[in-house]
Amino acid sequence: MAKITSIIDIGSNSARMAVFEKTSHFGFVLIKEIKSRVRISENAYENDGNLQNFAMDRAINALKEFKLISKSLKSRKIICVATSAVRDAKNKNIFLKRARDECGINIKVIDGEKEAFFGAVAGSNLLPNSDGITIDIGGGSTEFALIKNKKIINKISLKLGTVRLKELFFDKNDINGAKEYIQKELNSLPEEFHNENILGIGGTIRALSKIIMKRINYPLSILHGFSYDIETQKDFMEEIIKSDNKTLQKFGFKEDRLDVIKEGTLILLESAKKINSKILTTSGVGVREGVFLADMLRSNNYIFPKNFNPSVKSIEDIYEIDKRTSNYEVKFALNLFDTLNPLFEIDEKYKFHLRYAIKLSNAGEYIDFYSSHKHTNYLLLNSLHYGFTHEDRLLIAKIIKYNKKRKIKKDYISQYKELLPKREILESLCYIFWITKNININLTNPNIETKLQDNELILNGENIYLAKEIFAQKEFNSFQVKFYKK
Ligand code: LMR
Ligand code: MG
Repeated sequence: MAKITSIIDIGSNSARMAVFEKTSHFGFVLIKEIKSRVRISENAYENDGNLQNFAMDRAINALKEFKLISKSLKSRKIICVATSAVRDAKNKNIFLKRARDECGINIKVIDGEKEAFFGAVAGSNLLPNSDGITIDIGGGSTEFALIKNKKIINKISLKLGTVRLKELFFDKNDINGAKEYIQKELNSLPEEFHNENILGIGGTIRALSKIIMKRINYPLSILHGFSYDIETQKDFMEEIIKSDNKTLQKFGFKEDRLDVIKEGTLILLESAKKINSKILTTSGVGVREGVFLADMLRSNNYIFPKNFNPSVKSIEDIYEIDKRTSNYEVKFALNLFDTLNPLFEIDEKYKFHLRYAIKLSNAGEYIDFYSSHKHTNYLLLNSLHYGFTHEDRLLIAKIIKYNKKRKIKKDYISQYKELLPKREILESLCYIFWITKNININLTNPNIETKLQDNELILNGENIYLAKEIFAQKEFNSFQVKFYKK
């Protein structure tokens, strides 16, 4: 596979391009994302599905420039897919030929099931959830895929879309007609499509999540992985459906979402009701990532190997993390966790966070040696995109940020209290982190035995002169550290 690949998705509402760079076999990062409000479906629904010339012109203009961007980024491969509006259009060949002749782009028109599949590949591989139903609300269609244990069990595409509903019902002020139409379409969902979790894909769901984050003063500005309780937001969502543009703007919706957000919110609410969902987790990834991953993972059953995380891998690749040292330190830290846990009594699940904090702890040095723990904190919080919950990302980052502190002040972390565990837990993890990093201060990966005896941590090994000096200046809350030379 090419090192840099561009994926274009010509949705019925917007056209978007994402450019990905591979950092190793399965490691990758997004290096560019661009969208244009093409609305290829405009006026198609009242015209027998036929694409209109002015809409095709907009698409061709956008594609031409997407191609220029792609070239500037030295992308070697462009994969372009088109969904609902193009797939339904009788005159699609005119558009496909223009794209070929005028832009040199071969568009693959994908069917609804394939579209649902790409959304599901992205969601199942790049969200932390193992189970749920992906719902990708588009301009012309909405795709559903049932995911259990990271496996795609079933998928379906329905002719429900924001632009479609706008042109057929909302523009005629027929909200009840829209509701009936949605409910009729949703009746085609197979019986097994019931799940607590929605994995929400697409521009509409992202726009809605952004506004909800603002309304609840969510402490992170990270969209991918943001979850909310649907019941709690239901009144607000119903208010959106009834609002005029002015009110929608007051809520914070951007200009280019105003004329489809009501339609999208109604599709979402009705779908959530139908499949009995309680929690929505926002996906920053969708068809484009799915197309990219399906290409990369085609000989791997469309799933990453067990215990592989593409964000962790790309950080290791980009910041040249020394594997031997990080493996040693992870092993030491996990062992130290067991040694100290009769004292700390914290849940084993936090070994997960300790592992990644230690593993990637040196990344910030790449930016600058001084204050590198602060750089690492920022870097991990913002680049552990895939497969981690916000709670995970925050805890991993804060272990690094506060590892040098003896006590963490309440107000340092009070804004995150819904997302972080109790302060004592964070402090315990910080101790383990700090001891591990300093025991290996000479970078020799020393062989150290650890033992806990009457609230004394006994460390026994060689080449510990520097570590001893550092430890002598540190105070711990609940225990002492003693060194013995082997
Ligand atoms: C689509 O139609 O899938 C996208 O254009 C979604 C959107 O709302 O931008
Ligand atoms: Mg789409």
